[in-house]
Amino acid sequence: MDNFKRTLVTCALPYANGPVHIGHLAGVYVPADIYVRYLRMRGREVLFICGSDEHGVPITIKARQLGCSPQDIVDKYHAVIKKSFEDFGMSFDIYSRTSSKIHGETASAFFLKMYNDGKFIEKESEQYYDTEAKAFLADRYIVGTCPKCGFEGAYGDQCEKCGSTLSPDELINPHSAISGSKPVKRKTKHWYLPLDQYEPWLRKWILEDHKEWKSNVYGQCKSWLDNHLQPRAVTRDLEWGVPVPLKGAEGKVLYVWFDAPIGYISNTRELLPNDWEKWWKSPDTRLINFIGKDNIVFHCIVFPAMLKGYGDGYILPDNVPANEFLNLEGNKISTSRNWAVWLDEYLKDFPGKQDVLRYVLCANAPETQDNDFTWKNFQTRNNSELVAILGNFINRVAVLTGKYFEGKVPCNLKPEKIDSDTLAHIPQIRGEVENSLEHFRFRDALTAALSMARLGNKYLTDTEPWKCAKNDMDRTASILYTALQISADLSIVFAPFLPFTVVKLDKILNTAPLGWDRMDGTGILPAGHQLGEPELLFEKIEDDAIQMQMDKLASAKEANEKRAKEEIEKRPLAAKPECTFEEFQKMDIRIATVIKAEKVPDTDKLLKLTIDTGLDERVIVSGIAGSYPPEQMTGKQICILANLKPRVIRGIESNGMILMAQQPDGTMRIVEPDGNLMNGSQVG
Ligand code: MF3
Ligand code: ZN
Repeated sequence: MDNFKRTLVTCALPYANGPVHIGHLAGVYVPADIYVRYLRMRGREVLFICGSDEHGVPITIKARQLGCSPQDIVDKYHAVIKKSFEDFGMSFDIYSRTSSKIHGETASAFFLKMYNDGKFIEKESEQYYDTEAKAFLADRYIVGTCPKCGFEGAYGDQCEKCGSTLSPDELINPHSAISGSKPVKRKTKHWYLPLDQYEPWLRKWILEDHKEWKSNVYGQCKSWLDNHLQPRAVTRDLEWGVPVPLKGAEGKVLYVWFDAPIGYISNTRELLPNDWEKWWKSPDTRLINFIGKDNIVFHCIVFPAMLKGYGDGYILPDNVPANEFLNLEGNKISTSRNWAVWLDEYLKDFPGKQDVLRYVLCANAPETQDNDFTWKNFQTRNNSELVAILGNFINRVAVLTGKYFEGKVPCNLKPEKIDSDTLAHIPQIRGEVENSLEHFRFRDALTAALSMARLGNKYLTDTEPWKCAKNDMDRTASILYTALQISADLSIVFAPFLPFTVVKLDKILNTAPLGWDRMDGTGILPAGHQLGEPELLFEKIEDDAIQMQMDKLASAKEANEKRAKEEIEKRPLAAKPECTFEEFQKMDIRIATVIKAEKVPDTDKLLKLTIDTGLDERVIVSGIAGSYPPEQMTGKQICILANLKPRVIRGIESNGMILMAQQPDGTMRIVEPDGNLMNGSQVG
């Protein structure tokens, strides 16, 4: 990073359609804030940009449900989110919004230049249209059954159950989210970014030039590229969004994923109207986008292609540190099921404890894989790390200095080897923290920082100043002198992670915030320096506070179960339209046996099954890994639709489909033949 003069750090712009929860914080905002605070402390030139993402279909759906305007929705949640971020110390240089005037102008001009430069393909196609609501059904306005996992509530852009990216045409049994009616197809014109043309360039830029990207990011990019890129529409038939600035494009807006990343640029312009270009168009600037894993394709493939297509010197991200997802007590965080810890609610229940959450979320950050947040772990980390290690050390040092030396840093009258040996660890720990932070390994960095507090505790345990004070005040002075230097080092090393605590610590030590380079273990606090009043940095969190949170979750669970049960009672599914015997006979259904079953790498739901059909050996990719681990499938007899047109799924050609029954609760079970039948027997 030393080749760069300045660093531009952005965080994914959260959708302004609900408050933010711990998953957002752990995945994106806490690591980004730590990174930025660290760079600032090192005296780097850095800019930290964020804001609300205020377009997109979910916002308009919510507005429809509540009978208000999309603007009402985003006004409300923009304020809520902004406040939460402030409360948790997110040190953005600007937190703006994409419904701002300057954003509309920036995004519009961006589109127009690309249009004029011939960077888009114009294409007419048939898209779903709701004749009752008189509207095209973009993205989430269309709901249906996921072709990959069978989930019935999948959206036109994504299945939230299995995480697959979808297009409206892939949905089975599509219906309108507005009226519930069955849509018709209608012709409409849109503009597409021909991502296929950027593929060779992207392959080189990512797969060869950015091998250092985190493996989860690199892996996802590789899989997208290996599956080949298609042109992507950058416009939609919607009323809410940035209008397409072309004649004849009335009623069309820019696709939210086209305008939102431009929000990074507009927000920079808003902050620095005369000086923004050096942050976006100078090769001296290093751009880092912090995002969650569901944003990878847009930030690593689509946005860079837009910037490249636009040209004019725009820089590309140097790194895109994306995290995986944080679960809550073993289950996926879900807004609709109220399975979340909302930041505004957390602060009501734990006032003043922002840093505890920052600490726990960093310590458990889903850096390399999905990770779980549990309240028990939150309590343990608070009580046995923050209170017992960091808080305890500072408290002992401050109280003993008050008791023996009237709260003044004593002279180093009688140094011993253990003092310098202990202090010699500080630069080493500092190096570990630096190295980890610079490689986006925030958990490791935090572990290293805490090891400095452990070092302090060990030093006190080994030197026992409270015993020493009975007969050797000179030695006691040296011990507390040394321990106070460690305290000052702690105030530096924890500043990026625990900004609120460090303010308190600086008050106890009576120092102004110290620069990173002062952290050398020695001579930070001179002899004679008067400390402030001792104060506890952290408090123990008792069982009843944790129980209260568990009760909250339990009642959310109860409400969800009740709702699920009510839904089951509504079944069975509606009958399908009539079909003829001839139509049925087209299907070649046969008995087969699974010879080999293995998970498709980097997926949760997919199994690659090698099967014996009696006629041949073939591969079927099936989305059943959630219900059937591979070892349960080996040797199993199944029924397959053998003449289904082959499809490539995750780069694997799938030849057929396994017959499954959908349970009322939505889970899928295999239809098993009655007894051991001959492979290849026809079912009909
Ligand atoms: N709103 C999107 C999400 O929450 C993120 C947008 S990031 C941006 O998933 F780059 F498009 F702004
Ligand atoms: Zn699915």
